[in-house]
Amino acid sequence: MMNGLRKISRNSNRLFLLKEGLKKSGKTIMVSENKEVSLGRSDKEAIRQKIRMLVMGLSKEMLAQKYRKDIKEKIVIELMDRLEDEKKNYPQLLYEQIREYCQSQIEEILGFGAIQPYINDPEVSDIMVNGPGAGNVFIEKHGRLHQVEEYYTEAEQIMNVIEMIVGPVGRVIDESNPMVDARLSDGSRFNAIIPPLALNGPGFSIRKFHASISLKDLIEKYETLSWEVAEILKAFVVARFNIIASGGTGSGKTTILNILSDFIPDDERVITIEDAAELKLTKPDMVRWETRKANAEGKGEISIRQLVKNALRARPDRIVIGEVRGEEALDMLQAMNTGHNGSLTTGHANSARDMLSRLETMVLMSGMELPVRAIREQISSAIDVIIHTRRLKDGKRRVEEICIIEGIDGDNILMSSFMKFDYHKDSLERTGRTPNLIQRLSEVDLKAYGINIPEWLEKEVKS
Ligand SMILES: Nc1ncnc2c1ncn2[C@@H]1O[C@H](COP(=O)(O)OP(=O)(O)OP(=O)(O)O)[C@@H](O)[C@H]1O
Ligand SMILES: [Mg+2]
Repeated sequence: MMNGLRKISRNSNRLFLLKEGLKKSGKTIMVSENKEVSLGRSDKEAIRQKIRMLVMGLSKEMLAQKYRKDIKEKIVIELMDRLEDEKKNYPQLLYEQIREYCQSQIEEILGFGAIQPYINDPEVSDIMVNGPGAGNVFIEKHGRLHQVEEYYTEAEQIMNVIEMIVGPVGRVIDESNPMVDARLSDGSRFNAIIPPLALNGPGFSIRKFHASISLKDLIEKYETLSWEVAEILKAFVVARFNIIASGGTGSGKTTILNILSDFIPDDERVITIEDAAELKLTKPDMVRWETRKANAEGKGEISIRQLVKNALRARPDRIVIGEVRGEEALDMLQAMNTGHNGSLTTGHANSARDMLSRLETMVLMSGMELPVRAIREQISSAIDVIIHTRRLKDGKRRVEEICIIEGIDGDNILMSSFMKFDYHKDSLERTGRTPNLIQRLSEVDLKAYGINIPEWLEKEVKS
């Protein structure tokens, strides 16, 4: 309904003051002579409520697909149609504004509201909303974090966004379920956490789905590694080394894993196992599996561990696991030790050495009571190479070190640095040490795969 529409004759300073006063009170203002109109706050709120009701009345199937452009257009048209009647409560002068307002509100209710521009911006890789209020929205662009001007004024707006995302995919978020992971239909990762766990109000983060970075860009545009190093890694993959890409959050582990997987020869059967399908490789004989979260009743969960176990029955040549972070580590190591050489994964760690101790902890999480020595033996015989990535302060990502596991001595896993980033020379340099394992490269006809390892390495392999 139209709350307190006033006509104001345009003749004095008082007009301005009056207008400001009315604006503050949220009333709709209309100045008829020069057609100056503005929809008041309380009317806006009424329209907003109306739209929300209409949205709730839409079919669930339709809402679940609102990320599809054609479906979204259908929804907008349907809502606008129903709002036609609503407009009659207002003077015609306001129609245009009401239409615009409705459209922006529908966008907000259906979409992401304040952060929509960043959702649309392909250069933005991450969006983080820490809660309602100014200064609480951050984005990452070109590897750098920025605080942005846009924000959500109310916790409720953030809740709306969260519910619109998790509702259609069958997940619930409320006080007893205050944390939720989901994936947007375009593949972006979504995580939300709300009170009572989140002390500054409901918040969420989005890791946008990107066309994966190509090897060429990784080398030439982002300077993460060199062509020479890429050839070495390719040789490692073809020679079926078991490899972990380690690194901190957002250091580019998954991107490296994607590149490594791409090096797998086409005649090998690949099974990929991920929490949220991020890998973008295409191989002739490939199956992609994704874990499933428990439903609202806490049932139906399928873990990475279960999928790893299942993979062993599906005759893969290679198993690619998106990330190891828990109990599945033991199964993965066992798979690597029992004929699934050439498997690839990533893990969160601050250094290659740290990756080893984390693996140890992960194995302990599996519930098997293995002595430390036995765990280390498993690790040292399963893992061949650790490629450590780092995200530098300026947002650049580097392959910082390539380490090779050489075996075990007493209780200690023997690991040596094969190549290490030299920050003076600004490149990944060989350390001079060539572990025995490298000799395995001589068993493969690298040339037949079109791989040209650098001369220095070729010499080491032959000798
Ligand atoms: N070498 C790189 N140079 C610049 N940007 C990169 C590079 N590698 C990855 N990125 C960007 O950084 C973000 C994180 O990359 P990626 O998912 O590979 O990292 P991650 O270490 O697997 O992250 P997480 O810890 O979340 O699993 C992505 O937006 C990606 O586009
Ligand atoms: Mg990752």
